[in-house]
Amino acid sequence: MPKIMQETSKRHIHKGRSIGFVPTMGALHKGHLSLFKRARDENDIVVASIFVNPTQFAPNEDLNKYPRDIEGDMEKLKSHAVDILFFPEAKSIYPATFLTFVSVEKLSDKLCGAFRHGHFKGVATIVNKLLNIVKPHRVYFGQKDYQQCLIVQRMIEDLNIDTDMIVCPTIREGDGLAMSSRNAYLTTNERQASALIYKTLMAASDWVKTGNETTRTIKHKMIEMLKQEPFFSEIQYAGAYDTENLEELAELKKKILLAIAVKIGGARLIDNVIIDTG
Ligand code: PAJ
Repeated sequence: MPKIMQETSKRHIHKGRSIGFVPTMGALHKGHLSLFKRARDENDIVVASIFVNPTQFAPNEDLNKYPRDIEGDMEKLKSHAVDILFFPEAKSIYPATFLTFVSVEKLSDKLCGAFRHGHFKGVATIVNKLLNIVKPHRVYFGQKDYQQCLIVQRMIEDLNIDTDMIVCPTIREGDGLAMSSRNAYLTTNERQASALIYKTLMAASDWVKTGNETTRTIKHKMIEMLKQEPFFSEIQYAGAYDTENLEELAELKKKILLAIAVKIGGARLIDNVIIDTG
């Protein structure tokens, strides 16, 4: 199956057509659809992949219960004029002989990486493989997963992969909650409570902009605000981070990343905003 996709891409490239690629794990929502739209605007051929990548899930994580809806997804791909769906089987991506992994050091240990060991090694490996299979001119990612974007961008540069990476804005529900396939895990009450993540990011943005706070007080106030919500069973991180190396900031600077990860019910939710006062 990867071979057929590779040959198809080669044929399009040979005919001088540009390829835009959107890698996904399916259970498509408006966040994914915004990436398809952007890819459709900018390329001759749009390829999407749906692959729930086992190597980016730790043994205790949600690989088996991750939402799957291939019928619904195919409708959405059709209505967004996606030309090609790459939907490989796990054994064609990871045959029994498979031994090679890609690891982007340092960046992969920060933020989510500190709580999801091996996760970004799985992400870098699958994205590298998908880029080698699809050979896109442009590849589209969402800012919702900012750390993922930074790691993939570093890999593309470090390994001289010939593709342009395009990062698209986070698409949100009416109350600000970032769209995510994992929102499907939430009960009605948990879903309502989850809006506090974005509210906290917005409050923190204001604290940054007023200039009266330090990174320490901002972090403290973010955690206090999140703690008000009893549905959050764990606040994994919240605070102000360097947009390039993801280190917690000791002092505010012009461009900063505000990011949050919490556990709620059966879900782990993340979100971020970038403040650029430069
Ligand atoms: P998945 O979670 O399906 O996301 C696929 C792409 O959609 C990612 O680039 C993600 O950042 C983007 N996305 C998700 N929610 C979004 C939102 N609310 N607004 C805008 N974009 C959003 O991320 C993965 O899959 C996987 O790790 C993958 C890159 C496919 C590798 O397996």
